[in-house]
Amino acid sequence: MARVFITGSADGLGRAAAQTLLDDGHEVVVHARNSDRLEAVGDLVDGGATAIVGDISDLDQTRSLAGEVNRLGRMDAVIHNAGVYSGPQVMPVNIVAPYLLTALIDRPQRLIYLSSGAHRSGRAKLDGIDWSGGTAGSYSDSKLFVTTLAVAVARIWPDVLSNAVDPGWVPTRMGGPGAPDDLRLGHLTQEWLATSDDADARTSGGYWYHQERIEPHPAVRDQRFQDQLLDALARWQRGRRTAKLCPRVALPIAGAPPRPPALLGLGFGDRFEAFRGGSGFFEEGVQQAEKSPELQGKRSTKRSSRTT
Ligand SMILES: NC(=O)c1ccc[n+]([C@@H]2O[C@H](COP(=O)([O-])OP(=O)(O)OC[C@H]3O[C@@H](n4cnc5c(N)ncnc54)[C@H](OP(=O)(O)O)[C@@H]3O)[C@@H](O)[C@H]2O)c1
Repeated sequence: MARVFITGSADGLGRAAAQTLLDDGHEVVVHARNSDRLEAVGDLVDGGATAIVGDISDLDQTRSLAGEVNRLGRMDAVIHNAGVYSGPQVMPVNIVAPYLLTALIDRPQRLIYLSSGAHRSGRAKLDGIDWSGGTAGSYSDSKLFVTTLAVAVARIWPDVLSNAVDPGWVPTRMGGPGAPDDLRLGHLTQEWLATSDDADARTSGGYWYHQERIEPHPAVRDQRFQDQLLDALARWQRGRRTAKLCPRVALPIAGAPPRPPALLGLGFGDRFEAFRGGSGFFEEGVQQAEKSPELQGKRSTKRSSRTT
């Protein structure tokens, strides 16, 4: 049995994945944006899920949410599912929150990020991106970024299985009632990557569509772009953190090269930035040092049945 946290599980694919995983006997932590939306996960809670709350378009709430998750104990898998299609929350919800939650949640064995075929029309450019949500963001760009994040994490955390999933165009609130793809297949791959012992499901750095590994936009595998993205997100969230939630701490990284002065004492949430060693980013040892009180917070075979 695995312990799985799913963001945005009040509706759509997140909710469906939560239900399936619960039915399969896994321990599931569901997530609603606020206490009003808890009602939408009431039946999942009745079925044994634990519910936590936080609006992930808000940085402080996202950080607190990470603390809540950590208080529950280490997850085996986190599915970064919550997403919005348009408007000012696109960047905060679709990429900033997955980045921050990845950085702040005690490292699970598996990470799954919801991407989209639309990531292929994303622009691999970071100049002028409004991470704050002050202006409407491009969905395609955000999905290119989160796919890149998934593959970057696979590179910098070799002990974690990190993958991105295109669920297809499926009939959820976001997909609309006329979406042509199969809803069951839309959440199967992330459940499988989160819990299966299949050899394929235990690989990392993939971009998946209906349990098949396919090639993403070339920028996703460009290490320079990966590093630029992580740099941009680290720099941006650092400027936004509040003193209360983010005490300044040094990063005790055993055996690591000296920290560049510009990065010293940057503190909480900077688990991705930090060092550029011979092979790029790495950031071991931050977890225990950077916990403010607020942040203390099987399938065995592939399936392809069309059940919904
Ligand atoms: N459906 C498709 O055809 C399709 C295609 C490609 C990729 N995707 C991706 O698949 C993922 C799931 O999509 P979906 O179709 O299931 O969408 P959905 O039906 O609109 O559900 C999205 C979920 O995310 C939650 N959420 C959004 N903003 C949030 C916030 N600020 N704080 C907390 N929760 C928030 C929503 O909460 P509320 O219910 O409270 O709003 C909802 O539970 C997304 O990442 C999407 O981009 C979907």
